[in-house]
Amino acid sequence: MCGIVGYVGEENPKDFLLESLKKLEYRGYDSSGIALQNNDNIQIIKCSGKIQDLEDKIGKSNLIHSHLGIAHTRWATHGEANERNAHPHRVGKVTIVHNGIIENANELKNRLVNEGIVFCSETDTEIACAVFNYYYRGNPIEAIENAIQELKGSYAFGILFEDQDALYAVRKDSPLIVGLGENENYIASDILAIADSTKKYMLLEDDEIAEITKDRVTVYYNREVINKEVLDVPENVESANKGTYRHFMLKEIMEEPFVLRRMINHYLYHSEELFDITPYEEIHIVACGSALYAGMIGKSLFEEKAHIRCVADVASEYRYKTTLYDRKTLVILVSQSGETADTIAAMRKAIENNVDTLAIVNVKTSTIAREAKYHLFIEAGPEIAVATTKAYLLQTAMFSLLALNAAHKKGLEENYDLIMKNLQNLPSLLKKVLDDKDYIQKMAIDIKDARDAFFIGRGVDYSMCLEGSLKLKEVSYTHCDAYQAGELKHGTISLIEDGVPVFVIITDDKIKDKTESNAIEVEARKAKVFTITNDESIKTHYDKYVVPKIDDYFQPILVVPVFQLLGYYVALARGLDIDQPRNLAKSVTVE
Ligand code: AGP
Repeated sequence: MCGIVGYVGEENPKDFLLESLKKLEYRGYDSSGIALQNNDNIQIIKCSGKIQDLEDKIGKSNLIHSHLGIAHTRWATHGEANERNAHPHRVGKVTIVHNGIIENANELKNRLVNEGIVFCSETDTEIACAVFNYYYRGNPIEAIENAIQELKGSYAFGILFEDQDALYAVRKDSPLIVGLGENENYIASDILAIADSTKKYMLLEDDEIAEITKDRVTVYYNREVINKEVLDVPENVESANKGTYRHFMLKEIMEEPFVLRRMINHYLYHSEELFDITPYEEIHIVACGSALYAGMIGKSLFEEKAHIRCVADVASEYRYKTTLYDRKTLVILVSQSGETADTIAAMRKAIENNVDTLAIVNVKTSTIAREAKYHLFIEAGPEIAVATTKAYLLQTAMFSLLALNAAHKKGLEENYDLIMKNLQNLPSLLKKVLDDKDYIQKMAIDIKDARDAFFIGRGVDYSMCLEGSLKLKEVSYTHCDAYQAGELKHGTISLIEDGVPVFVIITDDKIKDKTESNAIEVEARKAKVFTITNDESIKTHYDKYVVPKIDDYFQPILVVPVFQLLGYYVALARGLDIDQPRNLAKSVTVE
């Protein structure tokens, strides 16, 4: 996901822009740049690579005197990750930075080329900039209003006009906020970028245009000035730093017992805030990646424990498929960032069909948090590492609480009181697992040279396999696949060869013998079988790690962190960029 920051005030913007961009590094990017303005003089410096590369290039430049500027980190969509395609882009009197995708860019480009405009990049952003410039006749608001009528797709723009001593901003579907300071104001695509500089901000809604000077913010909608509510920066937007950890990923794994206890205690003492799913005849859980895998655990629990029909579906498919809403349906959107494009689209499809929507999100100011009819915040705090860990864990825990609450309301859970008592102990049990990190690191070093790895399990164990596989894949670049243990015989087993690691998850007593048979099958073909289980009696094949046994609702909470640590330590052993794995972004805000 790209990052936008802007500054207008009494200082030179360079330091603020660079420091703010660094707080957005976690979202993933491949180039960056800044533009400084002094009346009709605009200086643009940009480069591919890391922000440090940009900082070095700026250090070698003669900067203009300026009090106004914009900056950007780009995650390549249209056009390669290089300096030419990096933002900011300038056409004529207009300079912009952009998050999102302009879907009719080619159509607009053809028209503008016919009018003699020459483009030097491959980006949709430069085309959008040309449209703003095309309509600019001295009135920036009019130019922006006219231009956005032409632009189709998603956008958040930071805009400079050569002869205007103000910063302009407009958005549609991509988040953008205006931060309010003392004799200075800011824009940012993520509140984290400016949380250390301001405690007050405005949230721009779609097609609202902000004109920002150092001491005034005017917001227009349909060419009329509107009043905007000034919001307080949420207190839990802690300034994101690594503390004593080498990587955000390990820091966020180690925070899990704390944030889990915080969430459990909150809902133990405010159980009325726990959403009641029992009135619904059908539940659709819709998300992407790890959020979907948390939802799959939710699906199993909703059906098995609360006897509510449920499907878990990937958002990029759900948004386009024909969906029957012929029963009283609840659509649950799961998203750490709350800005994943496909999940937003799935949510809007449900809203258009007048179906109730519940958001399980981490970022309170996000689009999904604001647009869903109901929301449950997981309060994981800022999650900076691209590979989600604590947020995934709390998403899973939230589903467990919802399922337990529903089973209890329907009189289906006879052990409710005991489970609630044990729940208090869950964070301490999780801490015990994390304290075994040296053992798990040993496991990681054992497989650090493996080219492939497989994860097998049945039922909820299979849903955990999917997340374990994704973690190892995305941070260590190991080719991993997760399979339902019963599926191996239908083809996959041909991939099992001497020494290949196979992680077998066995936590479900009802089917442990079946999965144990599958472990024997792959061992017979010389696989290295690592068993992750809650049952000491399960045979040790090549290696085994036993997690504390707890009720079905919360067992995944003690299993998946094993794989989070495994992925971390394999990536560490390989010397990889753990917090920002190649090609990945923290929030995928494009289709
Ligand atoms: C998880 O490690 C990945 N980074 C990715 O699968 C992520 O879970 C997915 O993109 C969904 O993101 P969201 O929770 O912010 O919607």
